[in-house]
Amino acid sequence: MSIATAYAFPNIAFIKYWGNRDPQLNIPANGSISMNLDGLETRTQVLFDASLRQDEFILNGERQSGEGLQRVRAFLDHVRRMSGMELRARVQSENNYPTGVGVASSAAAFAALSLAASAAAGLDLDKAGLSRLARLGSGSACRSIPDGFVEWKAGSDHETSYAITIAPPDHWELTDCIAVVDTTPKNIGSSLGHRLAESSPLQAARLAGADQRLAACRQAILERDFEALAQVVELDSNLLHSVTMTCSPAIFYWQPATLRIIHAVLDMRARGVRACYTVDAGPNVHVICDRDAQPTVEGELSSLAQVEKIICAHPGSGARLIDR
Ligand code: PMV
Repeated sequence: MSIATAYAFPNIAFIKYWGNRDPQLNIPANGSISMNLDGLETRTQVLFDASLRQDEFILNGERQSGEGLQRVRAFLDHVRRMSGMELRARVQSENNYPTGVGVASSAAAFAALSLAASAAAGLDLDKAGLSRLARLGSGSACRSIPDGFVEWKAGSDHETSYAITIAPPDHWELTDCIAVVDTTPKNIGSSLGHRLAESSPLQAARLAGADQRLAACRQAILERDFEALAQVVELDSNLLHSVTMTCSPAIFYWQPATLRIIHAVLDMRARGVRACYTVDAGPNVHVICDRDAQPTVEGELSSLAQVEKIICAHPGSGARLIDR
């Protein structure tokens, strides 16, 4: 019997991952840059036990079946292959934030699971190794392994595709104010979205400019240049949604409330408030702002009738082991 517990935070992509070169291994079509979100924690315990006949997955106290369990099992198979350990496992996960609020809970989930499962199986992986492993569960999970502001180098195969820290969490006091407009589960998940990306005539143009946007975003972070960050973050988000809206079949993640908030953010910035928007595969809007601007941003967002709630997070660490 061997047991380990780990926690990890989700991350918000400033330059987004959309489309795979290799869908089996989640080798992305382009590199991406993100910020871990402190406080929105997934805590996962993995117990490998000879008395278990099959893998079990319990999420927020509820035993899972179907697709969720299948994804965890397939992931544990990677860990068993790598470690040579054959026991079945009980995986118990808790999220301290509601699922479906527009933060990719799968990123925190597979980052915490990578660390807990590899430690419980006796694998001693370094950060790059953990990031590669997490990528197999969910692409963006590889960015929740290292600390702070993170870049996932797309690479071209399993060995070369992993994420690294470009700046520690205390490098820049930014806040992500997530304006939640809809908590119902999204009907088109990112896995299908990645597969459909290539069917958009705009994906090639999006990919052609990705290296330039990555460089601009990296530099904006390193220089703490908010205006430069805002320009590239919004452009990159708009490009992703242009691709989703023009793939076949088209996917519309935005709702009227999404656009309403985007306008509010642009209006705030025009008045000198350091805030910009980015939208993932759902209708909720992540408003990235300077820590000083957080009260103004929260105040203005909460005055919009369409905003159900606002969740704020600061730059966070990478995945951590709690006990061995
Ligand atoms: O890791 P996945 O398959 O959940 O994809 C994440 C996709 C986006 O959140 C839209 C973009 C990103 O880079 O996080």
